[in-house]
Amino acid sequence: MAEQASGGGRIELTALSKFYGNLQVLNSIDLVIEPGEFFSLLGPSGCGKTTTLRLIGGFEEIEHGSVRIDGAEMRGVAPEKRPVNTVFQSYALFPHKSVADNVAFGLRFVDCTKAEAKRRVGEALELVRLTGYEQRRPHQLSGGQQQRVALARSLVLRPKVLLLDEPLGALDAKLRRVLQLELRQLHREVGITFVYVTHDQEEALTMSDRLAVMDAGVIRQLGTPREVYDAPSSTYVADFLGLANLLPAMATAGQVEVLGQQIAVDQSHAVGSCYVVLRPERLRIVGPTASALRGRVETVVFAGALTHVHVAVGDQTLQAMVANGSDGPALAEGAEVGLVIGPDSLRVLPN
Ligand SMILES: Nc1ncnc2c1ncn2[C@@H]1O[C@H](COP(=O)(O)OP(=O)(O)OP(=O)(O)O)[C@@H](O)[C@H]1O
Ligand SMILES: [Mg+2]
Repeated sequence: MAEQASGGGRIELTALSKFYGNLQVLNSIDLVIEPGEFFSLLGPSGCGKTTTLRLIGGFEEIEHGSVRIDGAEMRGVAPEKRPVNTVFQSYALFPHKSVADNVAFGLRFVDCTKAEAKRRVGEALELVRLTGYEQRRPHQLSGGQQQRVALARSLVLRPKVLLLDEPLGALDAKLRRVLQLELRQLHREVGITFVYVTHDQEEALTMSDRLAVMDAGVIRQLGTPREVYDAPSSTYVADFLGLANLLPAMATAGQVEVLGQQIAVDQSHAVGSCYVVLRPERLRIVGPTASALRGRVETVVFAGALTHVHVAVGDQTLQAMVANGSDGPALAEGAEVGLVIGPDSLRVLPN
């Protein structure tokens, strides 16, 4: 690993393709990740996320297209010569080495004095809040602490780019959330570019400055979490982000027909059969006589600040989220209710 000044690297992928034999796993990816961004690659298993990271990190040969970091072409550049480091899902810590020695291992290619190495290890452990754990062995640490040692081992090198491949995948849900916040915070402190791989849409939406939603070797949508969530460009993206209500509809100029209702939309869209995404948090439940659109409550699940409600409308089941403490009709299972779909609650997607 080359010694680098701190600061984030700019990554530029141009027409990047990858084949394994006859199988094309990346199909001409074009992507620029800006210095210091927290960027996520999100997509289902096998869509090419790890392959993309491996091409950036130098663990896979670049054969078609290019990878540039801060303008420099990476083709033929060995992994340790790139200003990049990788944190893998399996932390691969040495079980018999202490925490300090595991972190110092990151410095094996770096020419520095013992005193300098010790100082850098101390700094890296401080960044991940493990000061005082230097002499422990990995088996004396929790999963989250082991993950932080793996992070420290990468950060000790002061890379310009940190690649993280599902780094929280092995942890339980609660610890994941804690470490998500810590990683965000760490990212702010170190100011380097993070490229984060996950197939967890909530994780990508909460953590990233921008994200790419991938599908079978291509980027289907690129944007900020809000852009992608509020304006999915396809049913694929809407479905992958778990945008619950995806309904068939018919579009005419300025309006769509969905669930037998004509609803005005100010979105420009093609005319004809299409889909709409109806946000559960914007679907309003009212008394049965207050709307022409009627349904019957199927399930009511209390979830703290919100209640999740499933409402059957004809042969469709709609999901709604109701803020607890707000006014509205009593939501008992089996109750007849009215539904209000406001123009701001739906988004028309191409078929
Ligand atoms: N060394 C290899 N030889 C042949 N095929 C491979 C190799 N590595 C990966 N693949 C294939 O390339 C495709 C993309 O794999 P990749 O590991 O990039 O997926 P991923 O998006 O990271 O998936 P996951 O979420 O499961 O980790 C898959 O179909 C996989 O089977
Ligand atoms: Mg992977």
